[in-house]
Amino acid sequence: MVGPLSILLPFWLGLSVGFLLYKFFLNNEEPKNLPLGSMGWPLVGETLHFLEPHRSNTMGKFLQDRCSRYGRVFKSHLFGSPTIVSCDLELNMFILQNEEKLFQGSYPKPIHGVLGKLSMLVVVRELHKKLRSVALSFFTTCKTNPNFITDMDGMLKSMMESWKDCKEFTFNLMVKQFFSMGPKEPLVSQLLEDYMHFMKGLVSLPIYIPGTYFAKAVKARMRICTTIREIIKGRREGNNDVGQTKGDFLDVILSNVNLSDEERVSIVLDLLLGGYETTSTLMSLLVYFLAHSHHALEQLKDEHQAIRKRKHDGEALSWEDYKEMHFTINVIHEALRCGNVVKFVHRKALKDIEFKGFLIPAGWKVLPILLGAHLDPKHHENPSEFNPWRWNDQTTIKKVSPFAGGLRQCPGSELGKLEAAFFLHHLVLNYRWKIIGDDHPMCLPYIKFKGGLRLEIEQI
Ligand code: HEM
Repeated sequence: MVGPLSILLPFWLGLSVGFLLYKFFLNNEEPKNLPLGSMGWPLVGETLHFLEPHRSNTMGKFLQDRCSRYGRVFKSHLFGSPTIVSCDLELNMFILQNEEKLFQGSYPKPIHGVLGKLSMLVVVRELHKKLRSVALSFFTTCKTNPNFITDMDGMLKSMMESWKDCKEFTFNLMVKQFFSMGPKEPLVSQLLEDYMHFMKGLVSLPIYIPGTYFAKAVKARMRICTTIREIIKGRREGNNDVGQTKGDFLDVILSNVNLSDEERVSIVLDLLLGGYETTSTLMSLLVYFLAHSHHALEQLKDEHQAIRKRKHDGEALSWEDYKEMHFTINVIHEALRCGNVVKFVHRKALKDIEFKGFLIPAGWKVLPILLGAHLDPKHHENPSEFNPWRWNDQTTIKKVSPFAGGLRQCPGSELGKLEAAFFLHHLVLNYRWKIIGDDHPMCLPYIKFKGGLRLEIEQI
């Protein structure tokens, strides 16, 4: 039987779909001076293309195509929002330097579910300022703790003797500084296991169905928080398993009366997260780029042999040694520029903003693509080439921002570089290595080596 409803239904459906398409493609209310670009499919926009893997020292097809068609600033529809994408150095700097005035950190909602509502990447304004200043005090604690450098040097050496995963080293180093706990303690292995799940889910598709990486990450985060709470409780009660006052970072945050326990847990979680994957990725990138750059490796060896000559047998490295590692720092900066540990950061526009004649509308998502500026031939000759000597030019530092910038600039940048520099010291003086097969770093957008970076290692 054909009722009025079945006649009207296709009509209404057609009208609604037509309206949606009209809104998407022909909406003539769109301001005139928006950057050029395409919005892709309704709802999904161009997100899947944007996330397509590519070598991390290249722009990838999506950015390359758009930049040559529309220019280095273009519009798109990404992560569920209309978006201005910037591969332009000047605009990137302008966005990062105007945090909280014209732009604001704005990570996609599902990520909040894994990071937690108090994560530094999620919070804004006063709360961000407060949590960030506590995080910064962690780095001061490290610098002023005379054991920090020797702990790090020792842990690096033993990691390299067994050639275990760099990730375990960066994780264990953090845990030692936070809680004065060694890698063999059961709570630490539990934390590490949970962190593995947490990281996998953070970069997976955000679908909360039991069994997905995302759902496992949300659960892992809850377990991590419980463990950190237990450690805090133990310290307060003077439980000997965990230890009493140690002069470590836990003592610092416990004595800060302006923090709630929830905030304390979140700061520790943020620092573990920030320092865990990024620094170990940087170390892998260094191993990779140096395996392909004999000349840089030789110069690096000279620098580290000269440092070693000034020391007694087996003597640990010091801050003073780090300050002498000039070429090493150039190598690290170049690996960050070419390797692109963090491809882009998430922001939104707080008001209508005009930049170089373009409009960035209020409320739109804004993505400064750090990689876009790092690989811009206007600023870097042969940008895909690993060339540490380009850093002899003092202006290069102004054209590269692997740690982003402004109020949200990575507070762990110096620590990350220090760990990488000490790692290089032991690597180049004690080992020869070759990469097995034709491997290379891929942007997924987090960095993964296509073949897992398998190495043939020989002790010198
Ligand atoms: C090679 C190493 C590293 C790279 C490339 C890196 C990169 C970045 C970038 C690009 C941001 C900015 C995010 C944004 O603007 O939205 C950031 C923020 C952050 N990083 Fe790092 N990072 C590294 C190492 C570390 C280390 C070692 C730690 C801690 C131990 C750390 C902790 C943090 C924290 C807590 C934030 C949030 C800061 C805020 O929102 O104010 N990072 N990092």
